[in-house]
Amino acid sequence: FPGPAAAGGCGQARLSSSGAAAQRAPQAAPQAAVNTRKKTFAEVQTERLEQAERTVLIKCPPKLSEKKLLRYLSSHGDIRSHFFFENRGIHALIEFSEKNSVASLQDAVGIPSAAEHHVVPFKSRLLTFTLKTPVSQAAEETPIHLAPQSHIPVKELIQKLCHADSVSNQMYILLNEFQLTEENIKLRFLACSLVRDFTRAYFPDSMVKPFGSSVNTFGKLGCDVDMFLDFHDVQKHATKMKKGPFEMEYQMKRLPSERLATQKILSVIGDCLDNFGPGCVSVQKILNARCPLVKFSHQPTGFQCDLSVSNSIAVKSSELLYIYGCLDSRVRALVFTVRCWARVHGLTNSVPGTWITNFSLTMMVMFFLQKRSPPIIPTLDQLKELADEKDKHIIGGYDCSFVSDLSKIKPTKNTETVDVLLSDFFEYFGNFDFRRNSINLRKGKEVNKPESYPLYIWNPFEQDLNISKNVNQPQLEKFVAMARESAWILQKEEKTQRMINKEPWGLAALLIPFGKSNPSKMKNRTKGAGSETIRSLLDSLKLNSANSLQKAVGK
Ligand code: GTP
Ligand code: MG
Repeated sequence: FPGPAAAGGCGQARLSSSGAAAQRAPQAAPQAAVNTRKKTFAEVQTERLEQAERTVLIKCPPKLSEKKLLRYLSSHGDIRSHFFFENRGIHALIEFSEKNSVASLQDAVGIPSAAEHHVVPFKSRLLTFTLKTPVSQAAEETPIHLAPQSHIPVKELIQKLCHADSVSNQMYILLNEFQLTEENIKLRFLACSLVRDFTRAYFPDSMVKPFGSSVNTFGKLGCDVDMFLDFHDVQKHATKMKKGPFEMEYQMKRLPSERLATQKILSVIGDCLDNFGPGCVSVQKILNARCPLVKFSHQPTGFQCDLSVSNSIAVKSSELLYIYGCLDSRVRALVFTVRCWARVHGLTNSVPGTWITNFSLTMMVMFFLQKRSPPIIPTLDQLKELADEKDKHIIGGYDCSFVSDLSKIKPTKNTETVDVLLSDFFEYFGNFDFRRNSINLRKGKEVNKPESYPLYIWNPFEQDLNISKNVNQPQLEKFVAMARESAWILQKEEKTQRMINKEPWGLAALLIPFGKSNPSKMKNRTKGAGSETIRSLLDSLKLNSANSLQKAVGK
C-alpha cells in the first residue's frame, strides 16, 4: 500500500478490494516499494486533462446491455476504459483512445425534439442513451458493476475498524475507504474538461484545471471540485511572439485592475453555465469575495464545483501537498485520520466559519511530520534547495520555488508506525504553546507569533499571511481539548477488554462523539495511562481542566 492509479500519481486512488489495505499496511516500513518513477504534479495534471478530453458521459436506461452499448460506441473508435456509476440513474463514463472518436460520436447523435421544452443547441459531451426495444429478460447479461462515488457512512466505517487488529491497520482501512478512487478522479477531471468547453468558446487557449483536494492526494470521496481557469498558455504565446525584429501584440481590452478582469470573466462564464450548461444548477456568482468565484452544482457528475480564475499560489500549495502526500504512505494515512476525526467532533465544517479548515489542519499534520526525529517529510526550505532552473517560480514577488521531481528527495529514515504518529500528533498539539508560537512549514520550526491571532499558520508562499486567521479562541480551545481527550483514549491499554465487550476501540473509539460514547469515561482516566507525559496531561486535565486549557491556548 498505497494503491497507485494509472495516472493518479501517488496512491491517489484506492485499491479495489477494501480489505487489501489493512493486510498490506506497512508495520514499520516507512515507504512502500514503488517500481515506477513517481509522476510530477504537472505530469499527472497534463495526463489526466488530456484523458478527460477523450471522454464522454452517457446517461443510460435502467436495464442496459453493457455489451450492446460498448459495441455501438466502438463503431466510433477504440474504447480505452469505461465504468458505470449511479447518480440519479445509471451513467457510463467512456474514455476513447482517440479524441476524434468523440467528434465522430457527436456527429452521429441526435438533438432532442422541441416538443415540450425548447433546447439550447449546445452540443456537449453529455449524452443520453436509450433503447428502442427494451432488453428482454433472456438477453440480460450479468448485472453491470456500479463504481461507488461516495464513501461508506462513518457508522459503517466504525464497525469495520473494530475488526482490524491494530490502530495502524484501522488508519489504513479508513484511508482505503475514504480516498478518491481512480474512477472518481476521472470524473473530477471530466467535470473540469466540460467547463472548459464553455470557456474555450471565449478563450480558445484557456484551460480549466482542478486544484485543492481533488489533486493534492488528500481528497476524500464527496469533496468539492476546486477548479480554476488558466490563461497561462496565452501568456507563453505572447512571449514567443516578441522574438525577432518586429513586435506584434494583440489588441486587448484594458481594465483598471486584475480583479475587475477576473470578475468580468467569471460573471460571463457563470452566466454561460447557468443558461446553457446541461446539468449545471444552483449557479452562484460570488464575485466580491477575496478570491472571486462561481459556485455551481454539476448534476451529471454529482460534484459541487468552485470555479475561480488562475490562482497560482493555491496551485503551488496543491503541488506542495501532492509532494508531501507522495513521499511516504504514512502521510496520507495520518491526514485522512485527522481530517475524519476533526469532522466527527465538529472541529471542521463544510461551510466556512471560525473553525479550522481542512487546509489548515493538513498543514498542521505536515508541520508535525517535519518535527519528528528523524523528520518524515522535509521543510519547504529544504525542498527549495533541491529545486532546479525549471522549478523556479516567483509569484507576486514571492519565491515559490521547490523541487518538482520526487526522486530527488531522499526517503526518510524514520520508521515510526502510524498509530504512534497519531497518538503523538494529539499529544503534540494538545500541549502546543499556541499562545506564543506559530507554525512555520518553510522552516519546520515553531516561530514566535508575529500577530495575536489564536492560531497562526504561516502561508508557506505568502510569508506575511496567516492561513488560519479565521479560527477563533473557542474553536482552538475545542481542538486542544479534543486532542487531549484523544491522546488519552489512544494511550489506554484496554484494547483486548474492549474487543471482548464488543466496544469500539482504538481509532473506532476516537470517531464517536465523546459525550455520546461513554459519559462515565472521564472517571477512569488514570487507568493504564501510557507515557509520563500523558500521565501528567491527565493530571492537569483532572485537577484543573479549564485552567490548563487556557494556559496552553492563551486568551
Ligand atoms: P476540502 O475541504 O477537501 O475541499 O479541502 P481543500 O484543500 O480542497 O480546501 P478548499 O476547497 O477549502 O480550498 C481549496 C484550495 O484553496 C486549498 O487546497 C488551498 O490551496 C487553497 N486555500 C483554501 N483555504 C486557504 C487559505 O485560507 N489560505 C490560502 N492561502 N489558501 C487556501
Ligand atoms: Mg476543496
